[in-house]
Amino acid sequence: MFQLLQWLPLLLLLPPPGSPEPPGLAPLSAGAPPQAPDLLYADGLRAYAAGAWAPAVALLREALRSRAALGRARLDCGARCAAEPGAALPASPGPDSGPGAARGAWEPLLLRAALRRAECLTQCGTRRLGPGGAARLRVGSALQDAFRRREPYNYLQRAYYQLRKLDLAAAAAHTFFVANPMHLQMREDMAKYRRMSGVRPQSFRDLETPPYWAAYDTGLELLGHQEAALALPWLEEALQESLAQVESCRAGCEGPEEQQKAEEAAEGTGSPGGLYEAIAGHWIGVLRCRQRCVGDTATRPGRSFPVPDFLPSQLRRLHEAHAQVGNLSQAVENVLSVLLFYPEDEAARKALDQYQAQLGEPRPGLGPREDIQRFVLRSLGEKRQLYYAMEHLGASFKDPDPWTPAAFIPEALREKLREDQEKRPWDHEPPQPKPLTHWKDVLLLEGVTLTQDARQLNGSERAVLDGLLTPAECGVLLQLAKDAAESGTRSGYQGRRSPHTPHERFEGLTVLKAAQLARAGVVGSQGAQLLLEVSERVRSLTQAYFSPDRPLHLSFTHLVCRSAIEGEQSQRMDLSHPVHADNCVLDPDTGECWREPPAYTYRDYSGLLYLNDDFQGGHLFFTEPNALTVTAQVRPRCGRLVAFSSGVENPHGVWAVTRGRRCSLALWHTWAPEHGEQEWTEAKELLQEPEKEEGEGMPSRDPAPEPPSHRLQRVQDKAGKPPRVREEL
Ligand SMILES: *[C@@H]1O[C@H](CO)[C@@H](O)[C@H](O)[C@H]1NC(C)=O
Ligand SMILES: *[C@@H]1O[C@H](CO)[C@@H](O)[C@H](O)[C@H]1NC(C)=O
Repeated sequence: MFQLLQWLPLLLLLPPPGSPEPPGLAPLSAGAPPQAPDLLYADGLRAYAAGAWAPAVALLREALRSRAALGRARLDCGARCAAEPGAALPASPGPDSGPGAARGAWEPLLLRAALRRAECLTQCGTRRLGPGGAARLRVGSALQDAFRRREPYNYLQRAYYQLRKLDLAAAAAHTFFVANPMHLQMREDMAKYRRMSGVRPQSFRDLETPPYWAAYDTGLELLGHQEAALALPWLEEALQESLAQVESCRAGCEGPEEQQKAEEAAEGTGSPGGLYEAIAGHWIGVLRCRQRCVGDTATRPGRSFPVPDFLPSQLRRLHEAHAQVGNLSQAVENVLSVLLFYPEDEAARKALDQYQAQLGEPRPGLGPREDIQRFVLRSLGEKRQLYYAMEHLGASFKDPDPWTPAAFIPEALREKLREDQEKRPWDHEPPQPKPLTHWKDVLLLEGVTLTQDARQLNGSERAVLDGLLTPAECGVLLQLAKDAAESGTRSGYQGRRSPHTPHERFEGLTVLKAAQLARAGVVGSQGAQLLLEVSERVRSLTQAYFSPDRPLHLSFTHLVCRSAIEGEQSQRMDLSHPVHADNCVLDPDTGECWREPPAYTYRDYSGLLYLNDDFQGGHLFFTEPNALTVTAQVRPRCGRLVAFSSGVENPHGVWAVTRGRRCSLALWHTWAPEHGEQEWTEAKELLQEPEKEEGEGMPSRDPAPEPPSHRLQRVQDKAGKPPRVREEL
């Protein structure tokens, strides 16, 4: 409740509950100066985590609106202040202005203009965005990335769903999905939305993608149907709007975020030196950022690579289409614009000759398009400075354009750049997304990295993956094991000596036991919930990695800690766990493995997820089937998963734990549904019981996306990072 008080001031700005929802994400509080996007977003996530859906929606939308307002204000203020007399920068001193003019007059003029421009920008920002202006609304780079990935829409769709605003939920889901086509959960959710009766096809609209993409696609499609006349207005709009998008991207380059990034990048390379070195350093950063804008504009949401040669290729289509409909003057203007990028382009030159011949007498007024001329000249000016800085100041610059004239590139750099150009990834078709079951997508999605594959582990069907758990999550599971063990000591469910060695104590906890203890209030329910969630996380990764075409089921999950018994460790020769294979009885003498009872013959894949590393010994190792020759070893650490097939190809054991306590989650997966873990389902039901009222009133035949209740929430990191979206979904 106290958290609600925190939102109160903001809620007062928002329309009263029950007021009609505006279509789309229109401003909620027109006129009022926006709050900082960071704060709004953080508050929105807190509201979301607490299940306060309406405030969450309001706050997240405000965050989006505030960020958009910031971008618009930058663009407008930048344009206005550049045009203001007195704030215009002086033209650079010409060769005939003499040395006195350069030193005596130019420098103070430049700096005075810079001061005047800064003043103008500050005032304009304050006028547009309220006290503090743009600086108050600065967006940190982490949040900028989150916005770029459209994460707010993922939260929004869930919150709208909870509020039964299905149309908006579908729009938000679609908006997120467009930029995250690999997001498995969203793909499933989208399918569910499509099946819901309350959602119409028009609901799936994209609330973020700039409209030039739609114009571009429509134009291309019409061209494909030989409809040049119909295509032309779309093609023209696409070009103009993409140029406008480049402008608004460039305006962002002068913001404090870019500055911050440049500082981050400069860390380690020492301080920028004196006044002019600092100015130069900052300026280079701005130029680099501006040069990247064409690539950003040419990159579709959800794609990694830009459409190659975006602007010139649009101009080519335009001149051809204009020629087809017989508008030769337009055709000439556009083909001349192509030649600004590629003066030697054979096809363009030939087309130009042809158009001119068709036109008859030369038309003096015909030149390249003005917008393109401005663009090319400006870009070349920036490249000239960047290459200069590269050659003389050691700056780095990766030219994003293939059309830069060779003469611009310093001799010394040309060879290297040519090589880089040849490696340019988008010279080839950008890689098409692989089928969704591809394990890499799943790893990426889960924030997991593949540390060692089978080859690196000297075997087959083995892998080490890292990043499955945050340190906080390891802490929660360790606490769960500890609490359960202590309760066992009181109740007779005791930590006993290990079945494998007399020198270690062994504590095991199944998911069902954990759920029962949680229900009884003996252990925190958070730990028990997490145990379930994590086992599913391991299962889905193991399936994606090893068995994409055939579902795997958890067959047994066991949280196991082994503790060294003090005073019994010297000269110890045995193992913590002798060498064995998981689904067959290994005969080390013959190297054979009998897949028959008492082995758990239905186990197909095994997983060991480690929770800690503060103990001595305890490495996992793989051997040859002789159980003697060690082929690979893995050191446990929090969040590391060793996954492997359960057969004779993976005999394994654990070295003695000689000090401390080693905890891990052992999981076995099976292809046989009848050997799926009953206890897992029981445990889940047990933990869900008090929350049965969830989903009440939902149309029961709509398989709805599961509401993101706190029980699925990933434990926050110590740093208080907001919960990542994935686990809420
Ligand atoms: C060519 O196109 C321009 C702009 O679309 C238009 O203003 C002009 O009238 C057209 N000329 C002809 C001959 O169609
Ligand atoms: C694989 O074998 C090589 C050579 O025996 C060894 O150096 C390497 O450590 C092994 N890999 C692992 C992960 O143990």
